[in-house]
Amino acid sequence: MRWFVYLFCIVAVDAQMFNSQRFLDFWTDLFRPLPRNPHEGIVPDYTPENQEEFDFIVVGAGSAGCVLANRLTEVPQWKVLLIEAGGNENFFSDIPIFAAFLSLTPMNWGYNSMPEPKACRDLRGKVCFLPRGRVLGGSSVLNFLIYQRGHPEDYNDWARMGNAGWSYDEILPYFKKSENVGIKELQNSTYHGVGGYLNIEYSPYRSPLENPFKQAGEELGYKWRDPNGEKVIGFSKPQATMRKGRRCSSSKAFLEPIRFRPNLKVTKFSTVTKILIDPLTKTAVGVEFMKRNKRIQVKARREVVLAAGAIGSAQLLMVSGVGPKDHLDELGISPTIADLPVGYNLQDHVTFSGNAFIINQTGMTMNDMSAASPFVAAAYMTGRGPLTLPGGAAGLAFVHTKHSQDVDTSRPDIELVMGAGSLAGDAIGILRSLLGITDDWYWRVYSSLPYSVRQNTFVINPVLIRPNSVGRLMLRSPNFTDHPRIHLNYFADNNDLQTMIEGVRMVQKVIGTKAFQRYGTKLHTTPFPGCESLLFDSDEYWECAIMQTSITLDHQVGTCKMAPADDPSSVVTPRLQVNGISGLRVADASIMPRIPAAHTHAAVVMIAEKASDLIKEDWGIPIDNFI
Ligand SMILES: Cc1cc2nc3c(=O)[nH]c(=O)nc-3n(C[C@H](O)[C@H](O)[C@H](O)COP(=O)(O)OP(=O)(O)OC[C@H]3O[C@@H](n4cnc5c(N)ncnc54)[C@H](O)[C@@H]3O)c2cc1C
Ligand SMILES: *[C@@H]1O[C@H](CO)[C@@H](O)[C@H](O)[C@H]1NC(C)=O
Ligand SMILES: *[C@@H]1O[C@H](CO)[C@@H](O)[C@H](O)[C@H]1NC(C)=O
Ligand SMILES: *[C@@H]1O[C@H](CO)[C@@H](O)[C@H](O)[C@H]1NC(C)=O
Repeated sequence: MRWFVYLFCIVAVDAQMFNSQRFLDFWTDLFRPLPRNPHEGIVPDYTPENQEEFDFIVVGAGSAGCVLANRLTEVPQWKVLLIEAGGNENFFSDIPIFAAFLSLTPMNWGYNSMPEPKACRDLRGKVCFLPRGRVLGGSSVLNFLIYQRGHPEDYNDWARMGNAGWSYDEILPYFKKSENVGIKELQNSTYHGVGGYLNIEYSPYRSPLENPFKQAGEELGYKWRDPNGEKVIGFSKPQATMRKGRRCSSSKAFLEPIRFRPNLKVTKFSTVTKILIDPLTKTAVGVEFMKRNKRIQVKARREVVLAAGAIGSAQLLMVSGVGPKDHLDELGISPTIADLPVGYNLQDHVTFSGNAFIINQTGMTMNDMSAASPFVAAAYMTGRGPLTLPGGAAGLAFVHTKHSQDVDTSRPDIELVMGAGSLAGDAIGILRSLLGITDDWYWRVYSSLPYSVRQNTFVINPVLIRPNSVGRLMLRSPNFTDHPRIHLNYFADNNDLQTMIEGVRMVQKVIGTKAFQRYGTKLHTTPFPGCESLLFDSDEYWECAIMQTSITLDHQVGTCKMAPADDPSSVVTPRLQVNGISGLRVADASIMPRIPAAHTHAAVVMIAEKASDLIKEDWGIPIDNFI
């Protein structure tokens, strides 16, 4: 059954195997749900001539790249080429609850980490899976849709590190500029924007677990609030990048409405393998990419802007001779055009999943069988029902634990994400596959629960949102097609592990409230494989369990760190120019000097909005609503 479902989905989703772009576009368009939004539609594919010139070349049509393409083509005399390795989004990627499933398709680059000493130890292959989008919209097509900006001090920290222009007061206008908030009570908020390209909504579906979650928060003394507003600490319903119950990816938001602008060209299924940099003048002059086994070079009259993400941008810089000299020498990449610490400062959010909470009533939770019901599918066609839950998430909480190194108690160090279902209810095995949980693990932990009980389970997962541990991305070879070696180093700093245990304790407090005890909610207590010898529910037990099955929340950032030009850790300057190279910028998740205490998509969109204005300003373009 499970393999049949996989096979069907892979054939259906990965139309990439057909070589005809027109066939592909037709197919994708056909399966778009009705009624169609007039702003949405298939982005036409363009294949540039070899040596064709553009004013700007944007590499990667992800969260950031789609914003850049939109804002740069607002200048009519600028001809812009957007290059993307993947193809179109489709019917399945629009369904918010299917987020996990997309990582099993070729829309995912399919990176894995190197073996981690303190995380993912009991997962398939003993490595952490690192899904990244390879599709128009990038990781905003794979992601769980959660729209969360972080704490003001996260950005004030960036400014304090010497990055002029990046304090919260200076970047808040960019968050608002992108935004079209559809949540009535937030439309008047000074923290939200109306009329931007990116739709922010609540899922129209109200999970039966939402009320208990809200009440649990109140019992514990937390407010139910807008965590993108004045204060972050508290409980809330997730805000999502969603339009009428469907995913509003970066390409739906920023690219599709402008797909016919004459000065914008988009080339799909085109993988950039090298940035062309003149080693004498240290100026980027263009890029080389592969499209259907054809090698094409294109030239940039003004700038090349990298938006290939925290993995792609760092890798591209290094294969093109920009990176740590010792590392490039080791791989035989010469000359080193600029000796910069590319790949260092890799930061991410790790989450502990695998626990399941059992509730003594049916109909409260989601599982893959209920998601497959025809009634649920019919509701989705009208933009409603449980399929619209963003990645299955029904509640978020931000808390400050006793291990926090922030004196400021308004800054959270743990986030709790409540999922409307759980791994235990994952009969088909899609969630398992995403997490890297093996069938053997699943049956060892959950077979003691009867099927009917497994269907009535849900999760609350703690996320470590202020980690100290820092990883590093290195090349495996000088060839871009070889996936890099990614050392995440989760929990290398012991305080991170202790904080995560505190996160588990916080979840237990939530479950222990009257609001959840009304349903006799309890933790499933079969110990995790490898931790059986430890006393269940002791700190030692959780430490072990966390190291066995913690996974990434897919927020890798920081590999091309932004810092002042004279700071030795700087890869890009506060104007996002690659330090020491002309005509080359990076504007995506990789420039973050420190990861914000939030999901990262909103911050990436903000970075791209600001980058567009920096570029316009540097080329003397007046910016009407320049902030
Ligand atoms: C499974 C998953 C769940 C997530 N959940 C959330 C969430 O709920 N909320 C949230 O805020 N964030 C979430 N994130 C994180 C968020 O989506 C990312 O931080 C964000 O999308 C990164 O944006 P980016 O522009 O830096 O990179 P990406 O969006 O990854 O874009 C990079 C683009 O560049 C393309 N590319 C790369 N290399 C090349 C090349 N050589 N040639 C051509 N094209 C190239 C890629 O194909 C891709 O389209 C999640 C991520 C994942 C993967
Ligand atoms: C928003 O503000 C306007 C003008 O101040 C007011 O008329 C309106 O009622 C407010 N709406 C909400 C939802 O608070
Ligand atoms: C890189 O690897 C790919 C796939 O293995 C191969 O087709 C390509 O020729 C290689 N490129 C170089 C420059 O070696
Ligand atoms: C669920 O558990 C609660 C608390 O133990 C109990 O009061 C309630 O009757 C139970 N409900 C069902 C349907 O078993």
